[in-house]
Amino acid sequence: RPLDINIELPDEQSAQKLKIGIYFATWWALNVVFNIYNKKVLNAFPYPWLTSTLSLACGSLMMLVSWATRIAEAPKTDLDFWKTLFPVAVAHTIGHVAATVSMSKVAVSFTHIIKSGEPAFSVLVSRFFLGETFPLPVYLSLLPIIGGCALAAVTELNFNMIGFMGAMISNLAFVFRNIFSKKGMKGKSVSGMNYYACLSMMSLLILTPFAIAVEGPKMWAAGWENAVSQIGPNFVWWVVAQSVFYHLYNQVSYMSLDQISPLTFSIGNTMKRISVIVASIIIFHTPVQPVNALGAAIAILGTFLYSQVNIQSLVV
Ligand code: 3PG
Repeated sequence: RPLDINIELPDEQSAQKLKIGIYFATWWALNVVFNIYNKKVLNAFPYPWLTSTLSLACGSLMMLVSWATRIAEAPKTDLDFWKTLFPVAVAHTIGHVAATVSMSKVAVSFTHIIKSGEPAFSVLVSRFFLGETFPLPVYLSLLPIIGGCALAAVTELNFNMIGFMGAMISNLAFVFRNIFSKKGMKGKSVSGMNYYACLSMMSLLILTPFAIAVEGPKMWAAGWENAVSQIGPNFVWWVVAQSVFYHLYNQVSYMSLDQISPLTFSIGNTMKRISVIVASIIIFHTPVQPVNALGAAIAILGTFLYSQVNIQSLVV
């Protein structure tokens, strides 16, 4: 019988590389735009529970319209699918709202420096909750991640405890989201794009009552009036931009998850944070002390070391 070997021709390989490159570039660019508009909105309208709800609502609406007009094919789902999606949606909701609360209190760059510590959370959760063990180099690679984040946090000029804790909670929640969604997407027939659409819809249902309880229409109405009087009627377009770009960058990231390994994904995510940190420091003129930048650089370098030793341990 013919040998069952799948040989990729050089042409196919470079086409695949190009495709992944385009996914990554699009994902990072959309993410930078989201972060800029999100912060502009939060500066004028500090209601992160509403803005995070609007991001999910906008994405859900965009996908419902795409399905209704057949721009995208609606997924075939059953009750089991939604049941497995529930813990993913709870974790996604917590991670999303916590990151937005964080960004309403501190500089975008600071939130993302702390969020670059996500691999450390991933290892600690896998070790202590799932009982997984890792080779020593993996644990050692956590030292620069944790040390770098700590150095960046203690030297941050505008440190705020809620901002710091929001980013930490977001890290923890997204690690659980990734663990649950890996299980949920295994052997699935739903594409990355539709998986993220369903996730948005379920998260929206979970988040809405909490947003009303924590902030509520009264605060929103007064805040909105204030923001429009400061910024002008264009303020509404800032809110639209942050909501649309939030959905698009997440959609592209879930689409690229279909194509690449989780490891490549996490390297891409770290590089995404570098572009956000640099872009937001330039755009918002964020003051940075050299020792603060050093902390961020050590943390990011640690994340690269982590991915390298992870590759080594997979090979061995
Ligand atoms: C959010 O609002 O969900 C966060 O900005 C997400 O952050 P991340 O996708 O960069 O982890």
